[in-house]
This record gives sequence, structure tokens and C-alpha cells, in this order.
Amino acid sequence: MSCAPQARIDLSALRHNLALARRYAPDSKQLAVIKANAYGHGILRVAQALEAADAFAVARISEALCLREAGIRKDILLLEGVNNRDELQLAQQHRLQLVVHQAEQIRLLQQVAGDPLGVWLKIDTGMHRLGFRPENVQSAYRQLRECPAVAGMPVLMTHLANADDRASAGTGEQCRRFERAVADLEGEHSIANSAGLLGWPATRRHWVRPGIMLYGASPFIDSRATDWDLQPVMSLETRLMTINECKKGETVGYGSRWCCPEDMRIGIAAIGYGDGYPRHAPEHTPVLINNRRAGIVGRVSMDMLGIDLRECPEAKRGDPVLLWGKGIEGAIQPVDEVAEKIGSIAYELFCRMAPRVNFIYQD
Ligand SMILES: Cc1ncc(COP(=O)(O)O)c(C=O)c1O
Repeated sequence: MSCAPQARIDLSALRHNLALARRYAPDSKQLAVIKANAYGHGILRVAQALEAADAFAVARISEALCLREAGIRKDILLLEGVNNRDELQLAQQHRLQLVVHQAEQIRLLQQVAGDPLGVWLKIDTGMHRLGFRPENVQSAYRQLRECPAVAGMPVLMTHLANADDRASAGTGEQCRRFERAVADLEGEHSIANSAGLLGWPATRRHWVRPGIMLYGASPFIDSRATDWDLQPVMSLETRLMTINECKKGETVGYGSRWCCPEDMRIGIAAIGYGDGYPRHAPEHTPVLINNRRAGIVGRVSMDMLGIDLRECPEAKRGDPVLLWGKGIEGAIQPVDEVAEKIGSIAYELFCRMAPRVNFIYQD
């Protein structure tokens, strides 16, 4: 029996979540966001499974090249665009589409010959991360329309800063700024990320850009993935390596942070920060053992963590421990709950998975 942690990736859940995105936005094209190794799920396997997406989005050119080298022919959008002439030439060579968010990128396009590229003009409507300020959009649009290196009409896009909070007025305000900025401009629109797509109907335009929802986590601060019928794609699992019979007053792990309040069994599970499980996970961060809830205790070390087994009297060495996702018999430990307890978000937990975690793809 191996105790090594494994991440089971359920590709049919991934496709279910894409189909759900389509049901919410039936008139939109789906730009599946698969940057950062498909949010830690494995970019190639995810791209192959998401055949039904209309196009893919990645952050950096290296991610797009990895897809092209593996034979992915679908349209790919670089969400950060290109940073220099070499990247632009690679983008032309590999038929990538570009987000254009600053004047330097227009200048680069004006200086190259060769095959024209599809571009998405990014407008900063309040995120203040990437994009042209609304007052500069007309001029950027005109330059792109006149540029021989640009194919067709730019897609007009913006990104939402607060769509995860359905009570926030920010999303409505960003939409109004977007409308004003693009009022006289021809071209398709794209506003929604996962939260926009599910929770803000006005943001469902020609293109939607789902990311986190495809992987089965909730994009909202106040609801769980199951509230939206999203299915977990990654299930992170390990096993109990050993069980210690500890006495009242004995401590567990580095720094002796956890002190046993009574005689109790402590399970030692084979996963730690060397696998990407966060070291700062606090006491009682939930796990499932044989479909029963238990909580971690003591500091997470590089390869191991401790679990309070008082609620799992029948747990034994070798039993599987589910950190998040779906257990063998279908019980779910929501990643959103774990993330909240740890003070993080599902996005980060997924992306942290270390290379030594064994990924198993199931269809
Ligand atoms: C420009 C852009 N669009 C869409 C997304 C997808 O967002 P989400 O994962 O919240 O759906 C991202 C992710 O950060 C993004 O940067």
C-alpha cells in the first residue's frame, strides 16, 4: 500500500461544469480559462477534456506554446498579451490571439509584418490592474482598426473586481463604465468571469470567461459550489501512515502547538507543505476519513500532518484521508470550506499542488 498523496482529476465533472456554464449563458461563446496549469489541474489533460469550449485563455505565452506543441489547435487567447517583439512573432507563428491592454502593445503591433492576429482590447473599468482607461479607449480602438497586424474587429473586454460579492455595487458600476466606453464601437463584448457568468446576468455577453467554476469551486464569497450544481474536479487524498495513542497533556508536531486535552488517538497522514498543503492550516481544518469528519491538529510539516481521531474511533492505519473533493463513496469535502478555514481561496489551494503529488485522471 502506498501512502503517497494523490490528486484524482474527474474529467467528466470538468465537462459537466462547462455544460453548466453553457446553460447559464446559452447565447455566449465559452472562453475556458486554463492558465496556471489549468488552476493546478494539468493544462494538457484539461484542454483535451474541454473539447466543447469555444476557445482557451492562458496568462503567458509559455502556456500557449505548451498547448500548441501538444497539438491543441483551438483558438488561444493570451490574457496578458505580449511583452516584446519576440513574443509577438511567436504569437503570429502559433496563431495566438492577444489581449491588448497598454499603448506599448499597440506600438509593437504597428511595427510587425506577417499574419494578422485577433486582438481583445482590454478596458479598465475599475480593477486598476490591466487595461486602457475609458477616456483612452477610442484612440486605442482606432489604432488597432488601422493596424495591418490586427485581424478583424477587436473584442471589447473588461474584468470584474467584485463579482464574487453579490451585494457589491461595484459590478453594476463597472458595467456602466464599460457601456459608456464602448458605446460607439463595433465588436464583440466580454465581461464575465465565473462569478459574472453565474450571478450577474448583465455580464453575459458574446464571450464569457469561466475559470474557477470549471474546476468545481464556488466563485462567490457567500455560497458553496453545490449550491450551483458544480461538481468537484480535484479530489486530494492521502492515507493514515500511523496512529499514535497519546496521553492527556502530550503535544503533537513542531512547536508542540497542539496539546491533547485527554487521552486520544492522533492519526498521522502522509501529506504536508512539500505537497502543497498549506503550512498555515489552523487547528480543526476539516478532512474526511471513511466519510467521517475529523480535524487536523498541530503544525503541518513538510510530509505529514496530525489528525484528531476522537470522532473516528474505527479509523486505522492505511485508511484514506480526503483533504478536499469527492470521496470514494461520493461524500464531499468542499474545497471552499477548507480554503475559508485556512484563510485562502480554492484558486490558491489548487495552484499550490507540488509536482510530487501523483495526478490520476479519471473519465
Ligand atoms: C481576465 C480574466 N478573465 C477570466 C478569468 C477567470 O476568472 P474566474 O476563475 O474567477 O472565473 C480570469 C482569472 O483570473 C482573468 O484574469
